[in-house]
Amino acid sequence: QKLAMELDSIEKGGYEHFMLKEIFEQPRSILDSMRGRLELEAGHLNMGGIRAYEQKFVNAQRIIIVACGTSWHAGLVAEYLIEDLARIPVEVEYASEFRYRNPIITERDIVIAISQSGETADTLAAIELAKSKGATIFGVCNVVGSSIARATDAGAYTHAGPEIGVASTKAFTAQVTVLTLLAMIMGQKRGTITDTKLRELMVELDTIPSKVEKALELDTEIQAIAEIFKDATNFLYLGRGYNFPVALEGALKLKEISYIHAEGYPAAEMKHGPIALIDENMPIVVIATRDSSYEKVVSNIQEVKARKGRIIAVVSEGDTVIPAMAEFVIEVPHTSEILMPLVSVVPLQLLSYHIAVLRGCNVDQPRNLAKSVTVE
Ligand code: G6P
Repeated sequence: QKLAMELDSIEKGGYEHFMLKEIFEQPRSILDSMRGRLELEAGHLNMGGIRAYEQKFVNAQRIIIVACGTSWHAGLVAEYLIEDLARIPVEVEYASEFRYRNPIITERDIVIAISQSGETADTLAAIELAKSKGATIFGVCNVVGSSIARATDAGAYTHAGPEIGVASTKAFTAQVTVLTLLAMIMGQKRGTITDTKLRELMVELDTIPSKVEKALELDTEIQAIAEIFKDATNFLYLGRGYNFPVALEGALKLKEISYIHAEGYPAAEMKHGPIALIDENMPIVVIATRDSSYEKVVSNIQEVKARKGRIIAVVSEGDTVIPAMAEFVIEVPHTSEILMPLVSVVPLQLLSYHIAVLRGCNVDQPRNLAKSVTVE
């Protein structure tokens, strides 16, 4: 018994749960997902997996991303990235919906399948369908040799290392890192991004592991916020642009492990529905980092405040405007708008973790959920 407990603790690297260990591993896992791909000194970007398909990528008329759960959220971030940097239209689909609506797929389409486990049945079936229509399939998987990795024409592994906690954390940031590199490479090859811009992004991407490290220092502060909101029955998460998928991911993390109902919404859509839910009991997590939609998000915060919602804002370091408006402010290191999800998601992972622990939930194995869903 004692030995079993000790073994368990060694596996968790001294952390109380795998999820916390995996959250804290992110500076390292993000670095691992960039290794050999981002060569800052030489000024090169490499991705072995696309080499043989470079022309296909350059000439793709459309990219379709298929995934489920957290991987689907990484796909949404990739939609912004690829459209921004490589100017190719992107569609992001739930793998399960994609298959059943007679989708239009041609040989000039590239399908990117994202999956941590590489075993998700819906994603695998979506790949088979796209393959039968002649599309090129590119996989972004974490598990080497998994079914999805084997079913694809080409791909790039995320190299995040084994993820044990059912709620995905480090796999998400690794997926976003790989997809960022992919979008940068595609932009470079297609000539849709200037050398200066590309260089700036490479330099900034290289700083992300240390910025994530800094974001992790917020742990104690976030635990205190979790203490205050642990008995909430609902949460709303708002974000715009690149932070919209982060809002969805923050809400999903909370639902999965704390069983609190949570919804992620694009901040501007709030007025078309969720605003009706806001009262003095409603915690609203707003991701409001300094980016092109910052001013707009500030107005959204004012709208929430006018209805007495309780605001927890994730802001860029040094923000002086939002702290005067929000009840709680979580300051994360600032980075380029397009890389922000890698940093802004971290406090949301920690918030859901601490709330779940305080509620006595089984963080690593939440009820009714499986790490990989191999049935339809
Ligand atoms: C399950 C897991 C989620 C995961 C999703 C997709 O629902 O509980 O954490 O995001 O499957 O899994 P995949 O392995 O394909 O990324």
